Amino acid sequence: MTTLQLQGAPVLVVGAGIMGAGIAQVAAQAGHAVQLFDTREGAAEQAKAKLATTLDGLVAKGKLAPEAAAATLARITPVAALEQAREAALVVEAIVENLEVKRGLLRQLEGVVGERCVLATNTSSISVTALANGLQHPQRLVGMHFFNPVPLMKLVEVVSGLHTDAAVAEAIFELSKAWGKVPVHAKSTPGFIVNRIARPYYAETLALLLEQAAPPQVLDACLKAAGFRMGPCELMDLIGHDTNFAVTNSVYQANFYDKRFVPSLVQRDMVEGGLLGRKSGRGFYRYPEGVPALPVAVHEAPATARTVTVHGSGPVADWLEAASTQALAPQGWGPARAAGSDWTGLEIDGARLALTDGRCAAELSAAWGVAEVAVFDRPVQFPDVAIAPGTALAYAVAPQASAAWQAQAPAWLAALGLAPLPVADAPGLVVARTVAMLINEGADAVLQGVCSPEGADAAMKLGVNYPAGPFEWLQRWSAAGVVAVLQALDAHYRGERYRVSPWLRRQVVAGG
Ligand code: NAI
Repeated sequence: MTTLQLQGAPVLVVGAGIMGAGIAQVAAQAGHAVQLFDTREGAAEQAKAKLATTLDGLVAKGKLAPEAAAATLARITPVAALEQAREAALVVEAIVENLEVKRGLLRQLEGVVGERCVLATNTSSISVTALANGLQHPQRLVGMHFFNPVPLMKLVEVVSGLHTDAAVAEAIFELSKAWGKVPVHAKSTPGFIVNRIARPYYAETLALLLEQAAPPQVLDACLKAAGFRMGPCELMDLIGHDTNFAVTNSVYQANFYDKRFVPSLVQRDMVEGGLLGRKSGRGFYRYPEGVPALPVAVHEAPATARTVTVHGSGPVADWLEAASTQALAPQGWGPARAAGSDWTGLEIDGARLALTDGRCAAELSAAWGVAEVAVFDRPVQFPDVAIAPGTALAYAVAPQASAAWQAQAPAWLAALGLAPLPVADAPGLVVARTVAMLINEGADAVLQGVCSPEGADAAMKLGVNYPAGPFEWLQRWSAAGVVAVLQALDAHYRGERYRVSPWLRRQVVAGG
């Protein structure tokens, strides 16, 4: 195959469930004649009837012209047998997630459709290479991974297996664009892009919960303050712990039980106990109430200081300078600046309030020979570097510190305009550790040719609504800074989870 054009071609969608119905709708709205087939009797007709109701609703709201709705619906034809779809130029299968059943369907399809017909699979976890094995024309099989709900979610992962013809992947890429989607090329590897890079978002919070570092609502608040639309706990509750645990397990197994992806005991317990999240009325939170409000903490003004110095350089140091200048203004003086320091933070009469570099407060305290040490989390806000007043931020105080400093550290953070949230003295606190791990996973995906950095960024923003992609975060941070956090985590936990991606190490060598 050299050039392949699928725009306007007849499409067969197999499987009229949640995804198949959505795919049929999107294809029909883009002007394709769509046949819809499901082995469950009446399922295709039901899906069409449901779509009619949805389209009527859009017409009633003035979001769709009545003619367009009617035309879309008229383009969808439920069919009772695959043999009726001989003319299809593209088949998208969205049937049950089972290798053998999908293989059986694909083989059957090869006996029906023409030789040039492209076969696309919406599988979310099965290897496209494995699905193609045994086909007469394995080069025509490609992954076309939509996200739920299909009409609303922009991302399509165009997944190539070992056999997939580049022209076929390209044709699906172009077709996805014509369907109003944003396609991203991916190599068929466990989890493809999104389901792989997203793992640490859940895993780091679950790891913190396992060691009782903070309650779920505190971890959620920290990550939401960093720009995530939902905290990991409320998101897992929404997805369903059974589903989320199954995806984690599948990525773990498919990677030969690489400890990097090891599932969490916390989540397994919840699944076994039937605490599945919203759908069962209880997960991390109870429903319908949802996430409880955090208790409002009142911080007294910090004690009057004699000397305040801002250490370090970069956006966080700049922000600290501006915020501490403002905080000290009523006393008629401002902070000194020590831009050349090897740490970032505030030094207040010898006590140190440091931006986390991955090491625990206890460790920094020992390394510096200073008892009064506290660490605060990385304020990651995107696209604005500006840290909004009242931003929730995790902090931890060294156990060596005096009771006075235990109270003064959060008082200073509050005086800088933040809403400080205490967490256990865990390496990399909450946001720094999570974002570093998302970057690390993205880096490994790029290293292994799964996707490009731009592809990873687009996929995470469009597939799971992240405020930024891993490589955009990296640009705002530094490879050396990310590696430092990962190494601190690795040194602390001594496991495979936190091993640094060679891609990141190379960035550091290259001066990134
Ligand atoms: P679903 O259970 O809602 O629908 C599957 C449909 O396929 C059912 O109507 C079933 O009767 C039909 N079916 C089963 N075997 C068949 C066969 N041999 N021939 C024809 N029809 C058959 O499942 P859903 O959620 O729509 O998922 C479908 C596929 O899409 C799976 O591969 C899944 O992993 C993938 N996917 C699902 C997402 C989701 O959020 N639900 C997101 C992205 C991909």
